[in-house]
Amino acid sequence: MLALHPAVQDTLYSEITQVLGTRQPSYEDFPSLTYALCIMFETLRLFPSVVGVPKVAAEDTLLLGKYPIPRGTAVIFDIVHVHRDPEIWGPDSNEFNPSRFDARHRHPAGANKSEIDDDTSVSFGNEKIRVPCKGAFLPFSDGQRSCLGIPPPSPLARGMQG
Ligand code: HEM
Repeated sequence: MLALHPAVQDTLYSEITQVLGTRQPSYEDFPSLTYALCIMFETLRLFPSVVGVPKVAAEDTLLLGKYPIPRGTAVIFDIVHVHRDPEIWGPDSNEFNPSRFDARHRHPAGANKSEIDDDTSVSFGNEKIRVPCKGAFLPFSDGQRSCLGIPPPSPLARGMQG
């Protein structure tokens, strides 16, 4: 994606030289490399490694919107289309634009949103990162069985706190 978008590559290069100079990165640099994380997330948004997450309804009580889902039904949520939904991400949802994850820009993320909803957005361990709302960005799935490799606070950490 960087080779296809040289302007994004230039911005990333500036961030790296500003934060690191000529030294190698360490784990402590992670929160300062916001644009690098935006690029990773924007790439995972357009091309999620896991395109659909299969689940089986464990109880008869599951409701998807107005639809009751009987116990034992296989349900797969379609991450690719959630990630490209213009209702959520705006009319440029098919474009590669890492800055859409950058909370410092505070631009409207979705077509129908006048501003990002701080109550439902998730930050993935970096307060400068925002997604339009909970459920809009699911490369690591969500909920109790979401990926343990998700940036902190991880599901494991959440479980330990609770
Ligand atoms: C870009 C990298 C990664 C992506 C896109 C990814 C994505 C996912 C997804 C979509 C799931 C399915 C969750 C569900 O069933 O709802 C998952 C599960 C899981 N991932 Fe990842 N993963 C990544 C990296 C990692 C890493 C680095 C680790 C470990 C350090 C990890 C550990 C796990 C584990 C243990 C589960 C099973 C969780 C459970 O069933 O409770 N993943 N991952």
